[in-house]
Amino acid sequence: MNSVLEISIKDQSELPFLAKTILESFGDQKIILFDAPMGAGKTTIIKELCIALGSTDNFSSPTYSIVNEYLYPGGKIYHFDLYRLNSINELFDIGIDEYLNSGHYCIFEWPQLVEAMIIDNYKKIEIEVNENIRYIRIIKK
Ligand SMILES: Nc1ncnc2c1ncn2[C@@H]1O[C@H](COP(=O)(O)OP(=O)(O)O)[C@@H](O)[C@H]1O
Ligand SMILES: [Mg+2]
Repeated sequence: MNSVLEISIKDQSELPFLAKTILESFGDQKIILFDAPMGAGKTTIIKELCIALGSTDNFSSPTYSIVNEYLYPGGKIYHFDLYRLNSINELFDIGIDEYLNSGHYCIFEWPQLVEAMIIDNYKKIEIEVNENIRYIRIIKK
């Protein structure tokens, strides 16, 4: 059975706490999937995760590439945006297996294609926005 932790945040000032909670809940799975609509705040939270991990890299959304790489004191963070990907073959083309098996953080926006290839041992984050409150579900798979 999946374990689920739900948090709601009303203000961006709560993002550091949210990031810490995402990293510390359910052990240290390094594969994290963000499943939420456009504008829900996926990129914003991922940036906060990088900061919580101690990264001082220039952070940018991988708008023109599929994956961005950041350094943090413990290793690397791969940040994927699969929005423009059309098939699982394109995932293999970028060498997804090597990323997933690297032991580094692999964090995904628009993760549907990759979720179809991994079985367990990952965290899935769902975000719902209602008025100005963001409801965040952290699910251990
Ligand atoms: N917790 C939050 N509270 C208020 N505004 C937020 C929050 N998270 C993100 N935003 C704002 O919402 C917009 C979209 O955020 P973004 O992280 O790019 O979403 P996504 O990556 O899910 O499309 C940005 O302008 C961002 O500043
Ligand atoms: Mg985004």
